[in-house]
Amino acid sequence: MEQTEKKLWGGRFQKAADEAMEDFHSSVAVDCRMAREDIQGSLAHARMLGAQGIIPPAEAEKIEEGLLGILAECEAGKLTLKKSAEDVHMNVEQLLIARVGEAGKRVHTGRSRNDQVALDFRLYLTRGTDAVIGNLLALQSALLSTAKAHTRTVMPGYTHMQKAQPVTLAHHLMAYFEMFRRDVGRFADCKKRMDEMPLGAGALAGSTYPLDREMVRAQLGFSAISRNSMDAVSDRDFCIEFAAASSVAMMHLSRFCEELILWSTDEFRFVEMDDAFSTGSSIMPQKKNPDVAELIRGKTGRVYGDLMGLLTLMKGLPLAYNKDMQEDKEASFDALDTVNGCLSIFTRMFASLRFREENMCAAAGKGFTNATDAADYLVRKGLPFRTAHEIVGRLVFNCLEKGKAIEELSLPELQAVSWAFGADVYESISLDACVDGRCLPGGPAASAVEAHIGQSEAWLAEARQSVRGAKD
Ligand code: ARG
Repeated sequence: MEQTEKKLWGGRFQKAADEAMEDFHSSVAVDCRMAREDIQGSLAHARMLGAQGIIPPAEAEKIEEGLLGILAECEAGKLTLKKSAEDVHMNVEQLLIARVGEAGKRVHTGRSRNDQVALDFRLYLTRGTDAVIGNLLALQSALLSTAKAHTRTVMPGYTHMQKAQPVTLAHHLMAYFEMFRRDVGRFADCKKRMDEMPLGAGALAGSTYPLDREMVRAQLGFSAISRNSMDAVSDRDFCIEFAAASSVAMMHLSRFCEELILWSTDEFRFVEMDDAFSTGSSIMPQKKNPDVAELIRGKTGRVYGDLMGLLTLMKGLPLAYNKDMQEDKEASFDALDTVNGCLSIFTRMFASLRFREENMCAAAGKGFTNATDAADYLVRKGLPFRTAHEIVGRLVFNCLEKGKAIEELSLPELQAVSWAFGADVYESISLDACVDGRCLPGGPAASAVEAHIGQSEAWLAEARQSVRGAKD
């Protein structure tokens, strides 16, 4: 049977590809997203081939012209890729040959799709990672402005979901700021390891042509060239790291969402979600559901799935390239899109929240959140902490029986449990004193949180500057 459409690799084949097989193995629907990177990679490669005299310089120029034309079409969103051409790489090569004829047939000299895809994917994901970092920084900026307004908004801090000690809303929000700061670090770190230029690795064993790998590296803006051709084309740890960093960021976002869902319940009433970011029920007229937060929580599982999929994809693969690896992009792009989508909608939803300070403060006043402070008071009066703990434990038991808070007990009632209590205890166990007293670096006192916010603003400004610098 004649081949209906000649494949770029068609020489050793007698038969056309089965149509279902073609559908099955084509990756265009997914890797078309890397068209720009593919063209840029080919441009750098072709210029180098010309400069090295590996192909006639005039032909390199023709290739360059052709590729620039394809790039312009790509930027204008006018590029049409064919499923039958298998993947983005062969599509671009075919388009080039259609444009510039014979010269185009020289672009693949000293190159394989294996090093080509390793390059395109690294370039694409590096840019994607910059976008994620940008979205994280935008969220952190929103966190900072809300935190600044709430350094004195007292709320209960919890352990085991039981009221523990009072904190402030600013302190609570700044906890997430720190988590996202580490996420930024993880993404920046994984970018560093993506930053190796694989072209020249060929199919797996490099090339016999005198390729100038340094020249290609410099044109594409990588910091280094890969050091082993087999590694360069056969590992995908960079996208696994990306999915891992995405999973951790989603886990942080998901915890935050969970808290907002909880805080917006009738039982908590700590926060009111904006109508614009909530939905109603088709049957229950009173409902206002926190769908954005719930969906983000749900999508976290999907990003974990991407990570698991990638790890499992790679675990049994012998060196070097195997077609299994074509599956790497769908999962990575899904993680990229999901984390970016979630971060940007979360930031908008967060900025529209109305915190109900009075309810937070009232809740902090219940549940004996000042019990530790009552014990600490006794320690200041000279008692060993373990004894003080026991005494306050008994006080709490009394309070529970009487339906009172510790500060609602009279001095004689307090002194009936310990003579160490004096009239100054009331001041020491007020909510404000409990918070203000925790003024160590990293603590919830307004002074400590304000210092943290100040340092964080400086960090954020610098981080934003370096993202801008990276883009220029
Ligand atoms: N579409 C392929 C991928 O994404 C490109 C590399 C194909 N290489 C090959 N020898 N079949 O992995």
